[in-house]
Amino acid sequence: MKIDREAPIGVFDSGVGGLTVAREIMRNLPSEKIVYFGDTARVPYGSKSKETIIRYSRQIIRFLQQQQVKAIVVACNTASAFALDAVRDEFDIPIIGVIEPGAKVAAQTRNKRVGIIGTVGTVGSGIHAEYLKHLDPEITVFGKACPLFVPLVEEGWLHDPVTDEIASRYLSILKERYIDTLVLGCTHYPLLRSTMRRLMGEDVTLV
Ligand code: DGL
Repeated sequence: MKIDREAPIGVFDSGVGGLTVAREIMRNLPSEKIVYFGDTARVPYGSKSKETIIRYSRQIIRFLQQQQVKAIVVACNTASAFALDAVRDEFDIPIIGVIEPGAKVAAQTRNKRVGIIGTVGTVGSGIHAEYLKHLDPEITVFGKACPLFVPLVEEGWLHDPVTDEIASRYLSILKERYIDTLVLGCTHYPLLRSTMRRLMGEDVTLV
């Protein structure tokens, strides 16, 4: 396969959350052009079936290919968890997910207790635990699905008492587990980073 170096990178997510990934790509690879697809018509992905997410991912990848992209970043943990293997087999274009890179960083945990937050789909898939156990079998993983975070972020309620209360309820169970690393396993969550930092404390590494 011949790659046109001048072509843009295609990035997609279920909505605005993947812009946090696009921002990092822009920071690290400032000369690259990006075509971003946010599937705001069908968000959320986190509560949908694996088959549905594979179908959506296929459709979006076809659309991005029509935009002549040279590679695709699946900037959605749910789509990475459910669809990455399937679409990599089907399409002749480099397709990069977001879960493995996050797991590699989280594997540097000091006390080997790692919390994962994400959508129902991502946490239910157990994929972070799979990667982490592969990297270090001594790591214990505690997963917590946080389905209300995505609508709060899509609504733009980033600094709001309602968001604080919900985050506090979701994260209290992980605080009780004495984790030293928390993987924000959904591309929407970095937008709530300051809330999570405050609730988890300075000693917990946020990935
Ligand atoms: N932002 C997506 C993720 O990273 C999914 C959020 C959703 O649509 O439920 O998992």
